[in-house]
Amino acid sequence: MGVRKPFVAVIGAGQVGATTAQRILEKGISDVVLFDVVEGMPQGKALDLMEAAPIEGHDRRIVGTNRYEDIAGAEIVVVTAGLPRKPGMTREDLLALNAKIITDVCGNIKKFAPDSKLIIVTNPLDVMTHLAAKVTGFSKNRVFGMAGVLDTARMRYFIADRLGCVPQEVKAIVLGGHGDLMVPVSSHTLVNGKSPSGAIPTEELSKIEQRTRDGGAEIVALLKTGSAFYAPASSVCEMVRVVLRDEKQVLPVCAFLSGEYGLKNMYFGVPAELGKNGIERVVEIPLTDEEKKALTQSAAKVKQGIEEVDRIAIAS
Ligand code: APR
Repeated sequence: MGVRKPFVAVIGAGQVGATTAQRILEKGISDVVLFDVVEGMPQGKALDLMEAAPIEGHDRRIVGTNRYEDIAGAEIVVVTAGLPRKPGMTREDLLALNAKIITDVCGNIKKFAPDSKLIIVTNPLDVMTHLAAKVTGFSKNRVFGMAGVLDTARMRYFIADRLGCVPQEVKAIVLGGHGDLMVPVSSHTLVNGKSPSGAIPTEELSKIEQRTRDGGAEIVALLKTGSAFYAPASSVCEMVRVVLRDEKQVLPVCAFLSGEYGLKNMYFGVPAELGKNGIERVVEIPLTDEEKKALTQSAAKVKQGIEEVDRIAIAS
């Protein structure tokens, strides 16, 4: 049995890819094509997931494949192919290794799914999203990255855990590059509509913000092999749903900027409305001077990575 349109293709059937596929299926969002270069692995995971369907009670389908032809017609392609971080490795260490993989994967997406929208997950995120847009040549609204939803979810959980409340009662937003300089926007953090500053002392709130910045590394250090995948998969799944159902929700994502936040010609983490066209519009929110400064520093770091990946591309 093949997949039915509209379907999502997931490239890379590792931890993040397979868990994303599972969440998309089991939440009934769409059918999935799961691609990996390792023979048999995506087929095995797809079969295992289908065998869970009678118990999970969904009627979605998933097909595992090693052939790019099978992604033809995908509405959204989620790219998780790449190497995960090892303990002590920064996202930037991954740059050269994953740039090669993204170039190969995106060349094939351009060829086999030229009308798709791309959600990039591979790290270093902002740089790989830039590379994906460059390799495919797709319009910038169709290429974006997943980072802010995850960073924001981490911060929401840490605050909820501290206050003993339900995570969904916490609203937060994390902007900037998906790295050590990401910017938790404390002026927009709300618990049940109120600032948490009365309930959490400032220095504790700063620690929570730092833990958010280190959120990925904390999991890497605990797992010892591999990096986070449950929360990343949930984050991708949310973006997929909002785009497929044209929900027009504003989520923090890695989007192309043309002057917003004083930044031009670069991919960066900002709030954006998502819908059937991918990025429908970038949303500018008011920031304090301190937050603006932090965002500028984060942008400078992302720009460095972009220059580096462009150099690698020219050299090869
Ligand atoms: N084409 C397609 N798939 C590839 C390629 C390629 N050229 N190279 C590697 N892969 C596949 C691997 O075979 C593997 O199954 O990508 C998959 C990656 O899975 P994992 O190693 O389990 O890594 P994962 O934890 O899923 O992380 C993937 O997401 O969050 C980011 O930092 C993380 O960049 C990493 C990516």
